[in-house]
Amino acid sequence: AANKKLLILAGDGIGPEVMRQVERVLDWYAKRRAVSFGVNHGLVGGCSYDKHGTPLTDETMGEAMEADAVLLGAVGGPKWDSLPFEKKPERGLLRLRKDMELFANLRPAIVFGPLADASSLKRELVDGLDIMIVRELTGGVYFGKPRGIETLPDGTRRGINTQVYTTPEIQRVARVAFDLARLRGRKVCSVEKANVMESGVLWREEVQKLHDADYKDVELSHMYADNCAMQLVRQPKQFDVIVTDNLFGDLLSDCAAMLTGSLGMLPSASLGAADARGRRRALYEPVHGSAPDIAGKDLANPLATILSLAMMLRYSFALGADADLLEKAVSNALGAGIRTGDIMTPGATKVSTAGMGDAVLKELDKLAA
Ligand code: NAD
Ligand code: IPM
Ligand code: MN
Repeated sequence: AANKKLLILAGDGIGPEVMRQVERVLDWYAKRRAVSFGVNHGLVGGCSYDKHGTPLTDETMGEAMEADAVLLGAVGGPKWDSLPFEKKPERGLLRLRKDMELFANLRPAIVFGPLADASSLKRELVDGLDIMIVRELTGGVYFGKPRGIETLPDGTRRGINTQVYTTPEIQRVARVAFDLARLRGRKVCSVEKANVMESGVLWREEVQKLHDADYKDVELSHMYADNCAMQLVRQPKQFDVIVTDNLFGDLLSDCAAMLTGSLGMLPSASLGAADARGRRRALYEPVHGSAPDIAGKDLANPLATILSLAMMLRYSFALGADADLLEKAVSNALGAGIRTGDIMTPGATKVSTAGMGDAVLKELDKLAA
């Protein structure tokens, strides 16, 4: 894989801290597994705004388009919150997703055995949990038009966003969910609010149509998003694959994160369509943000980003065995009682961000010995 091009965009807040640990893991793979990548670094988010006056330059956007995979840390922070919309750090990330056409965002919520007691739910509700949330990522209210803030003649201001979905947008993300379900528990739960939103009615109809045409072997159910939020904390193991729109997927994946112990545990893969050569654009990032409250303190959990690297090995480079190895090393580090503060459990050893990186590297060494 040495000819593969990686673009690393560490971003803001804890982004650079967690990405440092990922780079150590990449070095390990280059040395010990002869899996190496040509790595470029770039700026996205507030750090790019500070240097270039924009959260993503055209040049960096171009590099992302050319890369075989992009790894991203996190963007945003209080320093940039009052900037106009198009300058905000988050716009940089949204442009990457939109221009790379990364319509399918895979957010697995997996409970590692040793962390069952770090969850805010009772152990028996989450032990062994393995859910895949497939979030639509380039449509819906995030990108729908019209949008904006306008002032009416009487001085009243009005903020506008539009939820819109087309049939191809729904079908292509649903197809990803059904294909994934075939490799897992063969169950898909499609989530919307068809009881109040026309876009939800269309969503439900199109997912059902696709199921009936091509995926009769997969069990399909439909659920309203509010009920889904409740069911996720009531009985999360009822779910296998959840497919939902951009905004509901954002909310439900943060919610699912707490089942695993911490938002600091959830990785993600954002995937585009395969091109003629079978190559698909892809970006890998943790589900969490820049965590301004703990940034710069060496407290952040790097596992969400390290596990995103494992997803990259699996989904972009078909290096399944190497992905398994990394996930096993993470699991063993947790099994050895190593914890960052966010996943602390009684009797375990509390370490820093770098300390967790050390533990994962040590377990990789042991597994490769
Ligand atoms: P956040 O995810 O940054 O943090 C929420 C809480 O979870 C905080 O208490 C934080 O300390 C904790 N947390 C998050 N990641 C952690 C980790 N790896 N280890 C330990 N604890 C962790 O969400 P927020 O505070 O609502 O947003 C902060 C900024 O991040 C905002 O500017 C937001 O727009 C941005 N954000 C960016 C992304 C992204 O880059 N993909 C995602 C979400 C939020
Ligand atoms: C996420 C984040 C982003 C989103 C923000 C930072 C644009 O919350 O990736 O979950 O809302 O999609
Ligand atoms: Mn989010």
